[in-house]
Parts: sequence; C-alpha cells; structure tokens
Amino acid sequence: MEKPTFYKIIQAGIQAPSGDNIQPWKVISGINFDSFTLKFVKHKKDFFDVNNFATFLSCGAFLENMSIATEKFGFKSIISINNNNKSDIIAEIKFKPNNKAKANNLYQEIFKRSTSRVSYKKDKLSKNFYNGIKNFQRKNKFAKIRLFDGNNEKLKDIIYIADIIRLGTKGAHETLAANIRITKEEINRRDGLDYRTLGIPFAQKLTSRLLKSWAFAKLAEKTKLNRIMAYVSTRKLLNDSSGIAILTINKNSKETAIKAGMLIERIWLLLTKYNGYSQPFAALSFFLKRIKLLNAEGFTKKQKNKLIKLKEELYTLAKIENIEELAFIFRFGRANKPKIRSLRRDINSFIKEVIF
Ligand SMILES: Cc1cc2nc3c(=O)[nH]c(=O)nc-3n(C[C@H](O)[C@H](O)[C@H](O)COP(=O)(O)O)c2cc1C
Repeated sequence: MEKPTFYKIIQAGIQAPSGDNIQPWKVISGINFDSFTLKFVKHKKDFFDVNNFATFLSCGAFLENMSIATEKFGFKSIISINNNNKSDIIAEIKFKPNNKAKANNLYQEIFKRSTSRVSYKKDKLSKNFYNGIKNFQRKNKFAKIRLFDGNNEKLKDIIYIADIIRLGTKGAHETLAANIRITKEEINRRDGLDYRTLGIPFAQKLTSRLLKSWAFAKLAEKTKLNRIMAYVSTRKLLNDSSGIAILTINKNSKETAIKAGMLIERIWLLLTKYNGYSQPFAALSFFLKRIKLLNAEGFTKKQKNKLIKLKEELYTLAKIENIEELAFIFRFGRANKPKIRSLRRDINSFIKEVIF
C-alpha cells in the first residue's frame, strides 16, 4: 500500500471516540504499509477504565473506522484480535487488495461523527436507522442492542442517580478534572475534553473551573446542589432526546469488549448518516465493573449498595438477563451541528514505523 493511503486510513482510525478523548492508540507499522499492529497506551489514573474495558471499546471503534476507510481505498483488512489479557496488543491487521471493491457509504460519516452534549429533537429518526440497527443485531450475536424512547422516566432516573453518584466519587472526579481542558495552552494539546464541548449552559469557563475542584464537589453534595448539576447535565438532556440505547455483551473478555467498540462505532456512524448525534453515559457500566472486578474499590459502602440496587432496577426494567454484561448506555437524537469539535493529536504521534 502507498504510504499516503495508509496515513489516510489511520487518520480515519483516530477520529474514533475515546473516554475523555484520551486517544489510547499506538500503530506499529512496517515500512511497506501492508500490515500493522494496533496497541493501546494505558493511562494509569483512569477511574472509569476498569481492567482496560473503556480502552478496549475505543480501540474497537478505531478498528471499525480503519476497516471502513480501508474498503473506501480499494483494500480489505483482515483483523486478528489479540485476546491475551496481559498483552498491550489489540490486533494485527493485514491489508489485502479488494477485488469486489465497494464504496462504503459510512466513510464520510467518520469525519462528521461527534458527541453532542446539548438538547436533541425528540422526534424519531428515519426508519432506515432502526432497520440498520436490526441488521446489526442480526449480524452480531455476541451483543444485544436495546432501544428505548426518550419518555422512559424510570430508565432516565436510573442514569441520573448513577450520575449523582459519579459527582460524589473522588476517583471519578479526579479523572474528569485531569482531562478537562480550559486554557488555550491546554486545548492546544489536542486531547482531553475542551470545556466548550461539555454542554455547560452558562458561565462555561467559570463552571469548568469549579468542576475541577473536589472541595466544590463536596460542598455541592452537602447543599444538594449536586442534584441540580446532575439534573442539568444528565436528566434534562435525557428528557430532550429521541431515544436511549443500552448495549450488553454475552461475556466480559478483551475480544468481546473490542468487538463491542466496533459495534458502537458502527451504530454511531449510522446515526450520523441520519443527522443524529449521541452522548454516552458510561459511568454506570464502568462502575458496575469496578464493583464486580475490583471489589468496589473507590466507593463508600453506601455508594456500592446504591449502585447494586441501580443494576437490579436496570436489569428488571430493560429485561436484561443476569449473564449479560452491561457495556454501554447512550442517548441519541437529531441536533444541530456542534460549533466546537473535539480535536485529535497529530497523526505522527500515533504511528511508529519499524523494519520488521
Ligand atoms: C468508552 C467511552 C466512554 C465515554 N463516556 C462518556 C460519558 O460518560 N459522558 C460523555 O459525555 N461522553 C462520553 N464519551 C464520549 C467521549 O468523551 C468522546 O468520544 C471524546 O471526547 C471525543 O469526542 P467526539 O466523540 O466528539 O469525537 C465516551 C466515549 C467512549 C468511547
């Protein structure tokens, strides 16, 4: 493959979403550009990234974009996922010429897809979107996609209460505080969360600074201001949505998490095609993993019990079976194009060329 084509394919890959826009990808390529290894870079202090689950989702999203772009440029990609939990390798990718080259109609969506944290229109999306989801469901038996409409009060309450718990959890607070970018210098790093993309309704800069302060978070909890904050940043936005999606997977492994990331990105791109936007509410899914796999480390007993209760309520309400693992929750709907987009680091910072 020609080097410029390879770079275009990787440029599509790095448009993928990642938790707090951390961009955890590393591409090791040969000098012939006919194959590469995708690795992940671990961010040590990430309260949400339990056993790398969030990282695996982002890497899956990268692979999905990469594979769509590969088809666009007349090749196909053979992806071999690495299922070794101790390895930082996500997958080995080989490019092959694609005789049956077809124009993949989701390529341009890769560059339009975006998280939007403002109110959406409440009406339904195009029928083709829902048909597309049914099609993805048929082809992906390892996962289950459940869609709910934006009027499901009980479901919205569950997500809202999880968000109140998030605001009062120190580890979660520290992760977010480390990733919010406010000054010009910080924004120029081209990673993390630009405060202007957070959907803060007023005094954005000041509020962002307050959000970084744990003393303020404690005060907000004492005065119940935290409930108003979670109302504005979660419950109201869930009200102003077309629908809410819940994705579960049939087992918790590195491979299923990576495949879930691929599926999430495919859904997100389809949504983009029909002028839709999305906002993940990932805290509950990651917190439940912390309880199960890390002995609830970082939560008080009260928080832990509340989260377990929320899980039971969610599983009953959404008719999720006990063997299913909650992977991702997001709201979706049509909205205006965001004025400020999240940035990506320079492509060269992701690629390392080696002589095999
Ligand atoms: C695993 C994962 C978890 C995420 N969790 C949240 C979340 O809880 N709340 C939120 O507003 N955005 C969440 N996001 C969205 C990211 O912040 C977003 O993808 C990133 O900042 C890049 O912006 P973009 O999606 O507009 O390209 C999540 C994304 C991923 C991939």
